[in-house]
Amino acid sequence: MKSYKSMSQEELSALYEELKKEYIDAKGKGLNLNMARGKPSKAQLDMSMDILDALSSKDNAITESGIDSRNYGDLTGIPEAKQLMADVMGTDPQNVIVFGNASLPIMYDTVARSYCFGVNGSTPWCKLDKVKWLCPVPGYDRHFAITEQFGIEMITIPMNSEGPDMELVKKYVEEDETIKGIWCVPKYSNPTGITFSDSVVRAFAALKPAAEDFRIFWDNAYAVHDLYEDKKDELIDILSECALNGNEDMVYEFCSTSKVSFAGAGIAAMATSEKNRKWVESTMTIQTIGYDKMNQLRHVRYFKDIDGLKVHMKKHADMLRPKFEAVLKCFESELGGLDIATWTEPKGGYFISFDAMEGCAKEIVAKCKEAGVTLTGAGATYPYKKDPKDSNIRIAPSFPTPEEMELASRVFVLCVKLVTVEHLLQNK
Ligand SMILES: Cc1ncc(COP(=O)(O)O)c(C=O)c1O
Repeated sequence: MKSYKSMSQEELSALYEELKKEYIDAKGKGLNLNMARGKPSKAQLDMSMDILDALSSKDNAITESGIDSRNYGDLTGIPEAKQLMADVMGTDPQNVIVFGNASLPIMYDTVARSYCFGVNGSTPWCKLDKVKWLCPVPGYDRHFAITEQFGIEMITIPMNSEGPDMELVKKYVEEDETIKGIWCVPKYSNPTGITFSDSVVRAFAALKPAAEDFRIFWDNAYAVHDLYEDKKDELIDILSECALNGNEDMVYEFCSTSKVSFAGAGIAAMATSEKNRKWVESTMTIQTIGYDKMNQLRHVRYFKDIDGLKVHMKKHADMLRPKFEAVLKCFESELGGLDIATWTEPKGGYFISFDAMEGCAKEIVAKCKEAGVTLTGAGATYPYKKDPKDSNIRIAPSFPTPEEMELASRVFVLCVKLVTVEHLLQNK
């Protein structure tokens, strides 16, 4: 295929007319497809329905250690659930607090707690003149929304194929005491799908922050979300690496079963040092008498242990893989060699990150919308929704069927070509 950039004005104009016709045809099909949010599909959710039978009215609700899950108490969760979530994160159950239905509220509360009450006795962030945060980009819009809501100034850090640019992270964290945190999705990152390399994790663990209340928000949302049995990414355990460096208090790790059991109706956990846990618990105990232990018990009765959970994850992978592959195949066959875009090829998680030619992303998303294909808003993967290059688009292949995904991808690549040619013509 000929690179668009090497085409003459005449060639581009002719191509533009062709693409415009194709686009009018596509619009005429009256499609209504959505590749915007990383939701599990109906088939994935159906597969988890047996969880609801794992704890019936005929079963006892007593845990192995004798806790009556129907009653108040046991603020930090039942031991079996701590074990399961610890195994998901690859840490020790003693580091874990099990919370409620999802992990985002834990992250929100962790920021809110620090803002109102400080971190392990430090000055509450609300009393500081300036609080800043590092945001590897492209990243997860809902992370950025939390820090934005608390008026925290967000600084972007470029992501490369091994994780965030650690030289830059180190410089900011070690030289500026107003930097209080960093968002990380270390495995099958949202949206790039990359996994942080061992050296990146070790560089995080070895940081010497200027601020004593600096914390790494390690959102391990896709810890067990491999697409391929034989090509799994491995992430080393940040908690033990931090401990090796005498930095045990520097990290909060989060995870949930939102994309294991039910989205927003699973169980979620945090793993962190003893000192941090005590601080968190001092607020939790005012917030609640205890989270939903029945749901915790239901989950452990169903999965039994990490091996049971991994068997379940293979079934998710079988449903997700064809969708990722349909998208990637379409990108490769339609855009490969045109020199107008790049994209990631994740081995797990829920997203593909697509970079169009600079200045084209917003228009591509708008054109797709007009043709009945909804995408995540351009810019959403950047703090304040501002992608300085207007080039990144997050593709979420999980929700539509593979057939719908193929159709949606075809419309998407058509819009990419159309908008890029238009852009090249304008800039010739
Ligand atoms: C990186 C990341 N963290 C957290 C979440 C939300 O998780 P939960 O449902 O546990 O709040 C998502 C959902 O897309 C995500 O991509």
